Order: sequence, then structure tokens, then C-alpha cells
Amino acid sequence: MFESKGGVLLIGGLGFFALALVSNALVPVQMYRDLPEQRTEELVNANLMYQFEDLSRRFPESFEKYYGKPTREQAAEALALGRRVYVAEGCWHCHSQYVRPVSNESRRWGAVSATWEYQNELQRPVMFGTRRVGPDLSREGGRRSNDWHAAHFFDPGSVSEGSPMPPYRWFFDGSAQRPNRRGLAIMAYVQWLGSWLESYPYYEAYQPLPRLEDAP
Ligand code: HEC
Repeated sequence: MFESKGGVLLIGGLGFFALALVSNALVPVQMYRDLPEQRTEELVNANLMYQFEDLSRRFPESFEKYYGKPTREQAAEALALGRRVYVAEGCWHCHSQYVRPVSNESRRWGAVSATWEYQNELQRPVMFGTRRVGPDLSREGGRRSNDWHAAHFFDPGSVSEGSPMPPYRWFFDGSAQRPNRRGLAIMAYVQWLGSWLESYPYYEAYQPLPRLEDAP
């Protein structure tokens, strides 16, 4: 077995599998063993409240009807529902929530994802995703306005020409100006993604890539 090419590859393969298991699973588990898992209510932060209040001002009638006042409790409820909608609608088929430490991804999306960011209720199970038909969303918070999101969910092509993302008309009671409970929840959820970082890292990390003409 050890003399054959197949045997060497098999043992090498098992070795790399074991290494990946240790470095990607066992080491992080050890590192964060004592870090308590955050509950949804603890995930409501100032950036999210800013966006939640903004939703209540931009869509006063809908907001009043479905959430009443923009309190912290209601924000937590919206977050939890937003995540359920994200799972149910299969957003994760097309979007990842993981900025990888390769291919200069941080230049496009902001800080590389860290293990502690997933130590909470809304990441059980994690929404890493496997495909990127659309962009990574882990730094989406604060990147777009709530108006933009409403228009985009109602009709993606209206703000992003030729978008293959499907419209989500059932997030609305009629028009893009009237998001319903689920519509408001999914907007709160995408505005929450990355809001736990002190500033909006997207803007800090982002530098426009050099244009081809300017390349040396
Ligand atoms: C069929 C694949 C597909 C599905 C399913 C999908 N998206 Fe998208 N999404 C895309 C693509 C492609 C883009 C980029 C073009 C655009 O802006 O529409 C995008 C863009 C976005 C953006 C804008 C990102 C940015 O700032 O540029 C957000 C937010 C978003 N999607 C959220 C969602 C949510 C939430 C769901 C589930 C309700 C969802 N998407 C479902 C493909 C998809």
C-alpha cells in the first residue's frame, strides 16, 4: 500500500482531512469554549436601532401596523423573523455570509470574518452558504438605504440592471412603499449583518480597484 501511488494519495488525503478538522473545527471550538452564545436580544446594537428607526420613518403606516414602535424588543423580534425568512426563501443558495481570507476579498467586502462573529443564536446553523450567485452579505449593514432594499426586493432589476435575483412581491402589501411584516424583518436583518463591527468596515476597507488603463 505504501509503495503504490494510490496509497500515498490516500494517506495524504486522510492527513489533510485530519489537519482541516483540527484547524477549522477543533481549534476554534477550543478558542471560544468559554464565550457564551449570544441571544437574539443581545444582538440588537446601536447601528441596528438606527436602521430600525429609519424603517419606522420611511414606512410609517406599515411599521405602525406590524411593529408599532421601534423598540429594542421589536427589533429583536424582527431580527429573529428576518433570519427565518432568509432561511425559508433560500437566500443562502445565492449569498454567502463569510468574507474569506483569500483572493483579496476584504477589499471588496470589508473585514475578513472572524469566528466570534458566529457565536450567536442567529448563526445556528451558520449561514456561510456555498454559492455566490450574488455578493457576500456579511458586511451588508449600512451599505444601502432601506429605500434601496425595498425597491430591490420588490423588483431587483429596477435598481440593479439585469439582476438575476428573483422579486419578492410577497414581502409587500401591494407596492414597494408598503413592506409587510416579513418585508420589514428581512430589511432589518440585512441591515444587521456586519453592524456588530465598530464602524462600517466596508467603507474603510474598500478602495476602488485600479482600472486596467492605470495599471503599470
Ligand atoms: C437566484 C439567486 C439569488 C437569490 C435566491 C437571492 N439573491 Fe440577492 N442577489 C443576487 C444577485 C445576483 C445580486 C446582485 C445583483 C443585484 O443587486 O440584484 C443580489 C443582490 C442582493 C443584495 C444587494 C447586495 C449589494 O449591496 O449589492 C441584497 C441585500 C440581497 N441580494 C439580499 C437577498 C435576500 C435577503 C434574498 C432572499 C430573500 C436574496 N438576496 C435572494 C442573487 C440572489
